[in-house]
Amino acid sequence: MLLINKRFNVFSGLLALALMASVTAHAEQTPAGDAAHGAKLAYTCLGCHGIADYRNAYPAYRVPKIGGQHADYMVAALAEYRSGARVHPTMRAQASSMTVQDSRDIAAHFATQTPVASQGKSVGVLPAAAQACAACHGSDGVGILPEYPTLAGQQVDYIEQALRAYRKGTRQNAIMAGFAATLQDSDIHAVAVYFSNQSPALWVPHATH
Ligand code: HEC
Ligand code: HEC
Repeated sequence: MLLINKRFNVFSGLLALALMASVTAHAEQTPAGDAAHGAKLAYTCLGCHGIADYRNAYPAYRVPKIGGQHADYMVAALAEYRSGARVHPTMRAQASSMTVQDSRDIAAHFATQTPVASQGKSVGVLPAAAQACAACHGSDGVGILPEYPTLAGQQVDYIEQALRAYRKGTRQNAIMAGFAATLQDSDIHAVAVYFSNQSPALWVPHATH
């Protein structure tokens, strides 16, 4: 409830600002991502994200699938690697090598080819530990807002790694720190398997040329 109210306040604040701006001048819009430019920039990313089951060296877990992921979430995730709110040296270097607009372009590229859209059907029985998660990530693993990551089809060991990182604080996120803290290791495995099995699923992008 608190989150929804907060979000509502932010939205109404933004709306008020946008209205003011459009009265005094042309409202400046947030530039959207240029997917064609993003496709060119994304080439280096495919060295890891474009190889099925490619693994992070240490600790060993599969690199996340980013094909079809929500663009807004990806832009936020890249900003978190850049700021150090997510600790991962390679991704920090990658994220630091681009402008914010570049990250929007890349995210638009990965999101637009075959976006993962909810079909309102879930696979299997939602584990008890995942009841709360579905409010944001969907019972079919498709994030209900563009800022919420889609988990459907994501690698099991990557989801587990991410949840442990939120629990430990090596990924800092106010929302997820609270939810991850409620999970035992066995819960982490159960929710990761459940979300990984959902379909339509995130996919491994391949070079298009
Ligand atoms: C050397 C391998 C490598 C390269 C190259 C690479 N990544 Fe990553 N990426 C990873 C790994 C490993 C993770 C998981 C890090 C973690 O545990 O937080 C990751 C995480 C991400 C995430 C977070 C995904 C999520 O679901 O939260 C995004 C977004 C991302 N990478 C985008 C990119 C983009 C865009 C590029 C190219 C500019 C890129 N990556 C290049 C290995 C790589
Ligand atoms: C109130 C909304 C909300 C709820 C409820 C919620 N999450 Fe999240 N979740 C988020 C947001 C926002 C992020 C992105 C955080 C960030 O930027 O690191 C996220 C990130 C994640 C990630 C990382 C995804 C990736 O691609 O790296 C996983 C895994 C995850 N959540 C699993 C869960 C699980 C399991 C639960 C239930 C125990 C849960 N979430 C509950 C909003 C939520």
